[in-house]
Amino acid sequence: MLESSATGRTWLLTGPTSSYAVHLTEGDELLHLHWGPAIALADAEALAVRPLPDYWPFESPLDGREEYPVEGGPRFVRPALSVRTDERRGTEWRFEAYEADADELRLRFRDAGLVVTLHYRMRGDVVERWTTLENRGDDPLELLRADSATWTLPDREDWRLSQLHGRWAAESRLVRAPLTYGEKVIGSRRGHTGHQHLPWVALDTDATEERGEVYGCALGWSGSWRIAVAQLPDARVQITGGAGYDDSGLLRLAAGESFSTPVFAGLWSDAGFGGASRAWHAYQRAHVIPGADQDRPVLFNSWEATEFDISEEQQQNLARRAAAIGVELFVVDDGWFGTRTSDRAGLGDWTVNRDRFPGGLKPLADQVHALGMQFGIWVEPEMVNPDSDLYRAHPDWVQYQPGRKRTELRNQLVLNLAREDVQEYLWGQLDALLSSAPIDYVKWDFNRCFTDAGWPGDPYPQRLWVDHVHAFYALLDRLRAAHPDVAFESCSGGGGRIDLGVLGRTDQVWTSDNTDPLDRLAIQHGFSQIHPARVMAAWVTDSPNAMLNGRVSSLRFRFVSAMAGVLGVGGDLTRWTEEELAEAREWVELYKGIRPLVQRGDQYRLRAPQGDGLSAVQYVLGDETVVLAWLQAQRHGEPVPALRLRGLDPTASYECRETGEIHRGAVLLHHGLRVGLRGDMDATVIRLRRI
Ligand code: GLA
Repeated sequence: MLESSATGRTWLLTGPTSSYAVHLTEGDELLHLHWGPAIALADAEALAVRPLPDYWPFESPLDGREEYPVEGGPRFVRPALSVRTDERRGTEWRFEAYEADADELRLRFRDAGLVVTLHYRMRGDVVERWTTLENRGDDPLELLRADSATWTLPDREDWRLSQLHGRWAAESRLVRAPLTYGEKVIGSRRGHTGHQHLPWVALDTDATEERGEVYGCALGWSGSWRIAVAQLPDARVQITGGAGYDDSGLLRLAAGESFSTPVFAGLWSDAGFGGASRAWHAYQRAHVIPGADQDRPVLFNSWEATEFDISEEQQQNLARRAAAIGVELFVVDDGWFGTRTSDRAGLGDWTVNRDRFPGGLKPLADQVHALGMQFGIWVEPEMVNPDSDLYRAHPDWVQYQPGRKRTELRNQLVLNLAREDVQEYLWGQLDALLSSAPIDYVKWDFNRCFTDAGWPGDPYPQRLWVDHVHAFYALLDRLRAAHPDVAFESCSGGGGRIDLGVLGRTDQVWTSDNTDPLDRLAIQHGFSQIHPARVMAAWVTDSPNAMLNGRVSSLRFRFVSAMAGVLGVGGDLTRWTEEELAEAREWVELYKGIRPLVQRGDQYRLRAPQGDGLSAVQYVLGDETVVLAWLQAQRHGEPVPALRLRGLDPTASYECRETGEIHRGAVLLHHGLRVGLRGDMDATVIRLRRI
């Protein structure tokens, strides 16, 4: 709901439990009034007449209070907007007009030829904010920096910052630390979202998993980005974020051109970290992820089983075994195209390797379908190996700086997707591929960062950083429109491209190349802070874990770990024993039973995977609930604690489907469920149904 004051200068957006209010002063400064529990318009109006502090001249009363601090004038904070013309830099805007729909507010400002529109849209308790910049003048403008939004927190003491940091094969690890004066900057200057940080922060003062106020902000952008959290000299906290990492030039807007920033979404919750996560999950399922009401199938992926050494017959063998254990989607990973027999060649040539698949992909796809599974393939369209027909024909289609080395990472270069000819080539190749065989699923990878991101000959070569992301999105959108039954997975060496932008056009993401089931618990715990299990792909692979750490784990532990997301299998099934295959079949069957709860239910993190003890998650949907619990190591004299469940009706009784026991809701909530785990690396699934 959106309300505006009679003066037309105070606005209040209200969601189910929260409100957001802003006020325009007589001097056209746009001030932040409120973000937090729901308030009335009269409350916002009362806030609007409170005078600003008297801070001159070494501090500015505007700092820490403006909705979108521009560069210039009495401001010393990091500007959200920095614009340069041939004559000057900075912005002095005048308010022009506002437009209001049911849940959306647009505030339009103008500075000479530049029109700045601030957008606000309520989605439940999530406020989506973004900014549009239009050049309606005659001369070009340069956007040095154009953040999506700046968020302002209320005056409180002792803010803490939560973030999700990581690296390849160790993504999305949660850290929480006190915020101090100055700035904390996270981001990526790599051209993609990056493994190093998920574009999300949360701020609280005294929240727990169950209770307390949490403010969260998440950016929907799959290129370089930056989020800066600043504690200002008067202890106020602001969070500003947007596309691009540096302030050295984002885009040039010629006369008539415009740029719309990505969405920077904000969420307030007073239900603790758990409640905030559930609100983020619900938001993404309702407003971001396409078709999130459809459950994702159990997949098999061939990568860890075969790596580059693949053949049609071997894939058929794997497919037969996958079908026999209940897999629903069979995905052929890298190595099926061009001369791709290692990572040294073939990227860019998206035609089937006829030595390996003499009849193309269709015979295998048909066989996979005959086995009752869907068929998927791996691609990495934005890249090229120098050893490829594409590169030999078009060496100028990559990002490069004239006269400089072309840095190869994993023996590959990045195609310049800002070029229309490259866009059309990729569209042609991928459209033809999806038309050539009955393909239901595409795993879309991105396996190196930008390094020499130049575009010789273009008058403003740095625009390729932004244009690449737009072209990537446009290509995905166009392919989805032309092939509406094909699902897409976002992968970037595991979790290097996970954000609200890519999730708006993909069906799931590859969480991490780390498939070790114990390491995964921490990665999944971090991932769940912002994203739902519905998109979190997780595979059961071989033991010992050959890819990474050599850890030995039971099939039980591996399955229960992977069942916390979109279950997949990625081991070499041709080497699994009959007993292992039979056990796997039972786990897959069990997963299919709990899948609606995992993928669509409310998720409660009962115990975080810290230390070497017990951790657990619970999912609740309607009358059913399921608990997945893992014990890393048992120490004598330290009993495994009972798990206090969440989201149940204290007055109801629940039947355990594993043991037939009847539990009282109040007892489960207040005294807990005993999970009976023992020894090292044990795990269990406990299903309960309200009776
Ligand atoms: C990346 C992915 C892996 C696999 C390989 C193939 O590393 O994350 O899952 O697809 O590429 O080369």
